[in-house]
Amino acid sequence: MAAVEPLDIDHLRHLSGIKWSRYGPDVLPAWVADMDIAPPPVVVEVLQQLVSRGDFGYNRQALLQLPDAFARWQSDRHRWVIDPADVRVFCDVLHAIDTALWLLTGPGDGVVLFTPIYPPFLNALSTTGRRLIDVPLDPDGWRLDPDRLAAAIDDSTRAILLCNPHNPTGRVFDESELAAIARVAEEHDLLILSDEVWADLVHPGATHRPMGTISPEAAARTLTISAASKAFNLAGLRCAVAHVGHAGLAARLAELPAHLLGAVGTPGAEATLAAWTAGAPWLEAVRGHLTERRDQLARRLAADLPAVGFVPPEATYLAWLDLRPYGLGDNPAEILLDKASVALSAGPDFGVHGLGHARFNFATSAIILDQLVDRLAAALA
Ligand SMILES: Cc1ncc(COP(=O)(O)O)c(C=O)c1O
Repeated sequence: MAAVEPLDIDHLRHLSGIKWSRYGPDVLPAWVADMDIAPPPVVVEVLQQLVSRGDFGYNRQALLQLPDAFARWQSDRHRWVIDPADVRVFCDVLHAIDTALWLLTGPGDGVVLFTPIYPPFLNALSTTGRRLIDVPLDPDGWRLDPDRLAAAIDDSTRAILLCNPHNPTGRVFDESELAAIARVAEEHDLLILSDEVWADLVHPGATHRPMGTISPEAAARTLTISAASKAFNLAGLRCAVAHVGHAGLAARLAELPAHLLGAVGTPGAEATLAAWTAGAPWLEAVRGHLTERRDQLARRLAADLPAVGFVPPEATYLAWLDLRPYGLGDNPAEILLDKASVALSAGPDFGVHGLGHARFNFATSAIILDQLVDRLAAALA
């Protein structure tokens, strides 16, 4: 198995990405979802080759292979068999989500979100003028309540925007929860947008089920969006794919002017192709590292911050922390940036159920993770 290289602090402080550059040198960042891990050597190699050849001309070689590579990756890893002809490349995950909402729903239409939720989903609704149908997950384990979902649907609800595995809670929804979503979607003729960008970072004991595998009926009303960005730490390269199972959406996409949706650049396409064709051994090593860090965080919280509410995530490298017992107000991340010099993601950005919470990114080295918890524990003592 390939070695995982968590980067040391000097290296990290010289990166230009927002995670390490937004705050001053006294702050330890555990906010935006980038990993403090060197990217896969197979990806670095293809990018270095492009640079050393000066190979920056018009180039569709990698781009044209992505649908096949994604189909093979899904079938090998998630037992989801798809036709590459139904896969389209987008510039990023939200590009596909905004496009689908724009094409198949109208202003004021309701869109279900399972909250708390990844903040850009809330932005996608507000910026497209769609209405939030808020279906909170059950805080005791973050399960989805099918009755709550069914009761929330109204006459102008048109879509369900699912994040599975779920950011920020790390839940991997099981077959019964996904079947409940499919049932409600069928009953009310809803579009399902299934963001599965975290599917490859599942911890032992949980299994990701693509929405498209639940039933042929569910598959036929679903757009599944994915990318190599999270699992392979490539977010700055901007490349995503979407499987268009919904025939109506496929038809609307086909009607669009050829260049309206833009195009992915060569580095993003080459990197994604390398990840999905040769990145599996690296990914396995990273998953092992992330599970160790998750367990380290759980041990440290239990020992040093026992009042924090925390359900160990089944997937992702994100921990959703309930800090209400510490009386830090609605936005503990703001207080902890000041008092602990730790940058977390602000809970209220994840919707009203995020008040008093913060999201902690534990994709770092064992040493930095200990330092992060030490700082939080000292500030909250
Ligand atoms: C649920 C979810 N969807 C989409 C994204 C964005 O992915 P990308 O930057 O590859 O578009 C993220 C990033 O953290 C995410 O957590």
